[in-house]
Amino acid sequence: MRAPRGASPRRRRDRAPYARRRAFPASRQVSPLQWSIVILDRQTRVNTNELRARLSVIADELAQRDGASPIETSQVDAVTEFIDQMQVYEGAMYEISTKLEILDSEFQVHFSHDPIHHMERRLKSIDSIIEKMRRKHLPLTVRSVRDNLFDVAGIRVICNYRDDVYSVANYLSAQSDIQVLRVKDYILNPKQNGYRSLHVIYAVPVFLSSGAHYTPVEVQFRTIAMDYWASLEHALRYKTDLPDAKLSEHSQTLLDCARSLQNVETQMQTIHRDINGAPQGLQAPVTDGSPRHLS
Ligand code: GTP
Ligand code: MG
Repeated sequence: MRAPRGASPRRRRDRAPYARRRAFPASRQVSPLQWSIVILDRQTRVNTNELRARLSVIADELAQRDGASPIETSQVDAVTEFIDQMQVYEGAMYEISTKLEILDSEFQVHFSHDPIHHMERRLKSIDSIIEKMRRKHLPLTVRSVRDNLFDVAGIRVICNYRDDVYSVANYLSAQSDIQVLRVKDYILNPKQNGYRSLHVIYAVPVFLSSGAHYTPVEVQFRTIAMDYWASLEHALRYKTDLPDAKLSEHSQTLLDCARSLQNVETQMQTIHRDINGAPQGLQAPVTDGSPRHLS
């Protein structure tokens, strides 16, 4: 990432997910003898051994009372395996978002420039996982999810400028412990409807008591303008009660908006480069060679 010369634009960072960390501003002086409290962001989680035991008890009760067929051990195993796997996806999502926060804070410290405006992260819901597996005619097993779905853990990185998108993506991709599995540059090659974003799927090691589990995380890098556009287009796509004529009229308008936003962005990027210095030949990251075994 380049070092900007001037001050960065003021941003309105969405700090809601990071609220606890605001209690510890970097400027606060802590004497070497004084311990500072670190808040562990602990959430109530399902203990899979307890769940396994409870499911067996419930199944026995149902079988005795209603004559229901007993739940097979393999079905209980599948449920607990799924919960275990989701915990690994969550870990992978945190690993990547921490790396991104560190990159952003390095830029604040060194260059007074914040490349990331804000981030969003999510784990795919069980319903969405099942829907996608069915849509792709894949078996509903945890192994099949692991082998075929690379967007169970997802992060959206919203940057101020296109240059920031490529800088952040390239700095993250260059880190030696993670692998770039797939790159889709919809900024260089926008989709027909006008959608623009840079999608990168990473494999990141999550270290558990059983060792390192390389786990995929989909990261969508985009600018504020691209995000603004994508949110409305997404809303339109799921608005099913619109007449077809209206839908196609709005789709065409959105395509025009995508082009206008791209022009505005290019002009603002030019001004920003003049103020802060122009980066050289920014391109999307490339896929790594041989993939490590995914968890
Ligand atoms: P999925 O099966 O949907 O995951 O598609 P894919 O595996 O071919 O992935 P792709 O990288 O094309 O898109 C993944 C994600 O990017 C989607 O789930 C959306 O969040 C976002 N996305 C892709 N295309 C569009 C689009 O046209 N409009 C909007 N609003 N979002 C999009
Ligand atoms: Mg997806």
